[in-house]
Formats: sequence, structure tokens, C-alpha cells
Amino acid sequence: MNILSIESSCDETAVAVVQDGRRVLADCISSQVDIHKIYGGVVPEIASRKHIEAIYPLADQALRQAGVTRAQLDAVAVTYAPGLIGAVLVGVNFAKAAALALDLPLIPVHHIRGHIAANYLAHPELEPPFLCLVVSGGHTMLVDVADYTKMTILGGTRDDAAGECFDKIARVLGMPYPGGAALDRQAQGGDERKYALPRAKVEGSELDLSFSGLKTAAINLIHNARQKGEDVDVPALCAAVSAAVSSALVSRTELALQKTGRTRLAIAGGVAANSRIRHDVDRMAQRRGVTVYMPPLSLCGDNAAMIGSQGYYEYLAGHTADQTLNAYATRSILGEQL
Ligand code: KG4
Ligand code: ZN
Repeated sequence: MNILSIESSCDETAVAVVQDGRRVLADCISSQVDIHKIYGGVVPEIASRKHIEAIYPLADQALRQAGVTRAQLDAVAVTYAPGLIGAVLVGVNFAKAAALALDLPLIPVHHIRGHIAANYLAHPELEPPFLCLVVSGGHTMLVDVADYTKMTILGGTRDDAAGECFDKIARVLGMPYPGGAALDRQAQGGDERKYALPRAKVEGSELDLSFSGLKTAAINLIHNARQKGEDVDVPALCAAVSAAVSSALVSRTELALQKTGRTRLAIAGGVAANSRIRHDVDRMAQRRGVTVYMPPLSLCGDNAAMIGSQGYYEYLAGHTADQTLNAYATRSILGEQL
């Protein structure tokens, strides 16, 4: 089954062709990062306009690369939530038009379910059930994936997402948006013990996380040093932040493994590219005898191949939509009725 898949929830326009949920025939991305960099973050209005310009030629390019004609497509999958509403609407509208014109089923896909499915593309042997640590720019949660479309949220952040925390600190340090990857690079070789940063616990809720205290502490530390005319040891601070975020994530993940008894663990989302988190997750999984799955860096960030993968399983579960499909800025991963 060949699925044309569309992703436009933030600042990447992406179109892919995926066969039977596992085989990527084409995966095309047009990134807007260079434009938003000028403003220090995503400007929603500009994002929507850039998606409009990019989406049609990108779809054409994806079909050419895949060597698949329009007549050889079997369905159209699209991210319908969550994201910047104007941005998501562009992809949804394009997908609706394509499904109507080609008389194909339309499959709505939740963006975070897509991130989890990136693991199916990288690891042909991976099948549910498994536990997944989702860490992206806007979301941080522990998801029990009982089946391809049946999930439970075991815990998550009460305030900032891990990516938000990395990006805000990176921005105050003068790194261009989105600073997560740059902060990760800076952290290499830094002395993580030089700065003491808080590690928050959520009272009465041992699988939940909180990153706003850590973010504020790191930013205050930078401002205080600047006011006193002192230099900040950037690699040391980046290493301390990475260690604090990673240890919060890994400790909750380990507890969730213990509670659920799952023997397989996946990680997903843009922040799953972080080298410290990958290293610490791997070590913990080895210690516990748990098999760990991580997408390659190219499939951690936003892409449409992951939407095509999850779209296949949503289709098999009967989750299709008609031309009344809408886009949503926020929506639970649990899959309410559309
Ligand atoms: O999943 P994603 O592409 O978009 C959302 O769905 O939010 O995640 C983007 C996030 C950004 O916050 C970016 O800074 C972060 O992933 N990121 C990283 C790294 N690479 C990307 N954060 C930490 N370390 C990295 N190596
Ligand atoms: Zn994402």
C-alpha cells in the first residue's frame, strides 16, 4: 500500500511516500529554519505562507523520487494535530484536495504518534507493545504503546517540554534558533559538575516531570554572571543542563519500565537526537536488560515519512476521515473521535 504523507505542523514542510508503513520510497523536506532564525523563533504567519509555497512542488518531487505515479497511490495521510494551527491547516487542506482529486482514502495522523512511528521505519523488527519516551520541542511524555493505535500516557511534563528548555537556554546563550542541537554540541567536553542545577520532582506524581525551574535557574545564572561582568563557562553550563534534563527523563523512564514490565523501550521526537539522552537511555536499558530502539538522527526531527508509517496503521485500524476533516492546535495523542 503506497501512502502519500504530508507534514506541516511547524516549520518544516514535508512530503513522503511510504509503502506498507515500513518502507520509505521518498522523504522530502523543505525547512524554513533559516527564515525563522532571524526572529529567534517560529513566526506562525510566515510559516503558513511558506508551507503554501512549498507543498505542491514538494509533493511533485516526492512522487518523482519514489518512482510512483498518482495512479499508484493508495491513500493520503496527513498531520491534523497538534501544531501551529495555520501551518497544520495548509497540510490538511492539501491532503484533502489530493484525496478528493485522486479518489483516495484520507488518513488523519497525530503528530506525536508519527514521531513514535519513526521507530518502525528504522527498526523493521519493532512491534508493540513497548514503552516510548517522547521528547520534542513541544511535548515530553512517557507513552505506553500497547498496540499501533492504542496508547496510554504514563507521565509527562507539567510545564515546559524538554526541547523548549534547551531552546530557551540556548537562545539566552546567543545560539541561533532552534538551539537544542547547538547546545548539545557545546556540551561536548564541558565539565557538568561546575554548575549545580535543580532537578525537580512533581509531588505525588512520580512519572511526571517539570523543566521550568531548571530553565529559570540556568537563565538566572547567565544573567547574574553577565551583570557581574563574569564569563559563563558555556560548555560546562551546556553539559550541566544536558545532564539535568537527561537524568530527569531517564529516571522516570526507568520507573515506567519497572511499573509496566515492558521489555522494549523506544525514544522519539526532535530531542531524541540529543547525544547525552541517547547515551544515558542506552546505558540504563543495558543495565536493565531492556532492548532499546532509537530513530537515526534524520528521523528524529519532523518529517513526513513517520506520518506515512503511522498512517498505515491508522488505516488498518479503520481510522480514516472525510472531507469535513479539520486541523487542531492541540489534541490528545489518545485519539478522540474526530
Ligand atoms: O520533534 P521536533 O522536530 O519538533 C516538534 O514536534 O516540536 O523537535 C524539535 C526540537 C527543538 O526544540 C530542537 O532544539 C530539539 O528538538 N533538538 C535537540 C537536538 N536536536 C534537535 N535538542 C537537544 N539536542 C539535540 N541534539
Ligand atoms: Zn515534531
